[in-house]
Amino acid sequence: MDYKQAAEKLSQLLSNKRFRHSLGVSQTAADLAARFGEDIDKAKLAGLLHDCARSIPSNNLLQTAAAFGIVVNDVEYRQPLLLHAPLGACLAQKEYGVTDPHILKAIALHTTGGRNLSNLEKIIYLADFIEPSRDFPGVDKLRSLALDDLDAAMLAAYDQSLHYVIEQGVLIHPATIEGRNYLLLQRQNNSI
Ligand SMILES: [Fe+2]
Ligand SMILES: [Fe+2]
Repeated sequence: MDYKQAAEKLSQLLSNKRFRHSLGVSQTAADLAARFGEDIDKAKLAGLLHDCARSIPSNNLLQTAAAFGIVVNDVEYRQPLLLHAPLGACLAQKEYGVTDPHILKAIALHTTGGRNLSNLEKIIYLADFIEPSRDFPGVDKLRSLALDDLDAAMLAAYDQSLHYVIEQGVLIHPATIEGRNYLLLQRQNNSI
């Protein structure tokens, strides 16, 4: 399935708003890939499909994850919406014919982040935050930071995400903490 066919299929399954968001993430990911010398087509496709599992009703996420053999941790069990990321990778493969493991992993990690991310994984995580329809205090600053320094932008995005999760009073996914710690330690080591 090529990009156009995948977009056509996705447009049937997602709400208009979420489909527009997906196109925004796709274009923003392509721009970041061009800026940092990454594969533009992979970034475009990963961005397009990152939320493809939002087509699964939220009360079916746990069941679908079990069917795909995804190991669900305590946080995901309590907050199954988080599972749309790893499930998105499963659907991208099964329903959209994506075989590239780098694209699949970028989709799987787009909600939580994690340690030692590839540039493509950082690009999809950030594009989800800063695509044109996103509007929150500081989004423009994050947009320019992302074009300048992926790691600095990732740290700012992790911080933003943690603030939000704390404000909402919900559980913090351990992968977000691990990803943030990893980047902070890496930057400290590099500056010694
Ligand atoms: Fe998502
Ligand atoms: Fe998204």
